[in-house]
Amino acid sequence: MASAARDEKYFPDGDRFILEREKQSDLSFGHGPHFCLGVMLARLEARVAMEELIAQVDRVEVLTERIDWLPSLVARGPQTLPVELFPV
Ligand code: HEM
Repeated sequence: MASAARDEKYFPDGDRFILEREKQSDLSFGHGPHFCLGVMLARLEARVAMEELIAQVDRVEVLTERIDWLPSLVARGPQTLPVELFPV
């Protein structure tokens, strides 16, 4: 799981977030018969959240030097991420 979307053959520079990256299949929502049933809702929620954030916030500052990661092999993310939002 940890190496998904990091295969250099398919995802050059896989550690970088590149918005213009050509559409590639990925495993974020699984694969095959158990592919995520909520994928459309999840993508819609993410789109609405990002559109609102971008419309209302000029910049986001992370307020910590140290990030503690979730103790999980399958889902990577910070346990908490204190930020300050600067309105437009
Ligand atoms: C960012 C949000 C989400 C991510 C990353 C995600 C990811 C996944 C992944 C990887 C699987 C496949 C698990 C496997 O192969 O065993 C899955 C399955 C599933 N997801 Fe999601 N999911 C998200 C949101 C949602 C939402 C919002 C719903 C429902 C409202 C949902 C409902 C389901 C269901 C019911 C399955 C099981 C499908 C099956 O086994 O046939 N998911 N999801």
